[in-house]
Amino acid sequence: MLALIPQPRECDVRPGVVVWTGSVGVAAPDEWRDAIETWCVESSIEGCALVITSTVAAPRLTIRRDSSLPSGGYRLVTDDVSEIVASDASGALHALATLRQLGPHEWWRGGDVKGGRIEISKVQITDWPEFGWRGAHLDVARHFFPVDVVENFIDLIAAHKLNSLHLHLNDDQGWRVELPQWPRLTEVGAWRRASPRGLERDGVDDGTPHGGFYRADDIARLVDHATRRGVRLIPEIDLPGHAQAVLASYPELGNGGGPVEVWTHWGISREVLAPSTEALAFAASVVRAVADMFPGSPVHIGGDECPTDQWESSDVARAVMIEYGFTAARELQGLFTRRLTEELTAAGRDVVAWDEVLDADPPTSVIVAAWRSVDKGRDAATRGHRVVMAPMPFTYFDWRQSDDPSEPLAMAFPLAMSTWEKVYGFTVVPDGLDVEAASRILGAQAQHWTEYIATPEHLEYMAFPRLAAFAEVVWGTAGPVEEFRPRLETHLARLRANGVNFRPLDRPGS
Ligand code: ACM
Repeated sequence: MLALIPQPRECDVRPGVVVWTGSVGVAAPDEWRDAIETWCVESSIEGCALVITSTVAAPRLTIRRDSSLPSGGYRLVTDDVSEIVASDASGALHALATLRQLGPHEWWRGGDVKGGRIEISKVQITDWPEFGWRGAHLDVARHFFPVDVVENFIDLIAAHKLNSLHLHLNDDQGWRVELPQWPRLTEVGAWRRASPRGLERDGVDDGTPHGGFYRADDIARLVDHATRRGVRLIPEIDLPGHAQAVLASYPELGNGGGPVEVWTHWGISREVLAPSTEALAFAASVVRAVADMFPGSPVHIGGDECPTDQWESSDVARAVMIEYGFTAARELQGLFTRRLTEELTAAGRDVVAWDEVLDADPPTSVIVAAWRSVDKGRDAATRGHRVVMAPMPFTYFDWRQSDDPSEPLAMAFPLAMSTWEKVYGFTVVPDGLDVEAASRILGAQAQHWTEYIATPEHLEYMAFPRLAAFAEVVWGTAGPVEEFRPRLETHLARLRANGVNFRPLDRPGS
């Protein structure tokens, strides 16, 4: 069984295999060269070098453009001379990702293939994605992950034909990107004294400092790595709530409650930015500076879980409410959403925000990430917003994967459980939308919040197999779970052969 994941739309399997050995020539359009060369380097093994060069007389793989194909779509024929046709580089990369699944398991992601030859199943495939936004999200604020770990994660998501990685770059517990204009954000805000040991509700402090941050050259390296693999990085600066690390660095941007440390708890801190001229200017400045590090990407401005208690007892906030004629403190959040949207729109960027921003009438140009429920996505699309579906029960991969008591520590409220079968049953477009509103559902995104994910191995454990199920759902070819399961079992052998620490299907494992 080929066990392709995500399942292609049309796949005709033919008898026999293609054998690549020695020097294998790959002919490709010049404009896709960076991406395809990267693939060739990573796909070469000892005794079989894939070479993208016009000096190889008879290519074994030709890649060419046909702009009549849908974006991201491709045709792939594997034969003595194999052929890929795509309308854009992302389509070509999707075909190459499929090709790697047609070879030995060890070849899938740079595992150790022995014998100097690669055997590839003979197929004819026509395939394209249903949704343009096929995302994963990684919280590097609660736990910092170094560049090589993020690169590995990018490789894994690209191999599943996901095309964006949203980086949650700040939270109460840490600020993770160096900005020369605001040095204390990383001198102070990137480091915390301790984290909870066990669950937050256990109330035990581990006494172990944690921190780290990315410099501009780290971000540039990540952007280049991702771009070559057809993945877009989407930075998030989460304000005005989740601001305790910012206020530990610059207390004058807060509501006058006195100095705070970078938070050593999980949950929602009450420390939020003041709705002052200075704090709005700060937010615009940092969001703009971070946007500049991620050329052309949409920028996520957070906006979730912003408690209003501090605003309700602040003279500054009261004066701003009077100035704008607001009757509820909640409306103050709209000042941040509008200011940041104006700033980023002027810079030509799409703006994304969590669904709480709907409470203070954001501009309809804001893309809403619907996390609290499917209903929030339905509401946003009905109100004219483009929407990324990220509802907790289906896309929060910090939730435990079964109700087995030996599941590792995870987000622990009573219903926080999400099996791979549940993820596979997710329907991206909420029902009840008319055609126009449904067309505003851009796709979906899988969240990896990291309060309880502290190591790269555990990140893989929480991501897989759910991310494989999610990838097929958002590609748009999910079918009956009984048909998926055997493919998934074979795919897990592929993950194992490449050292990915997935959770076994039926038991928590190690
Ligand atoms: C979120 O989970 N607070 C977006």
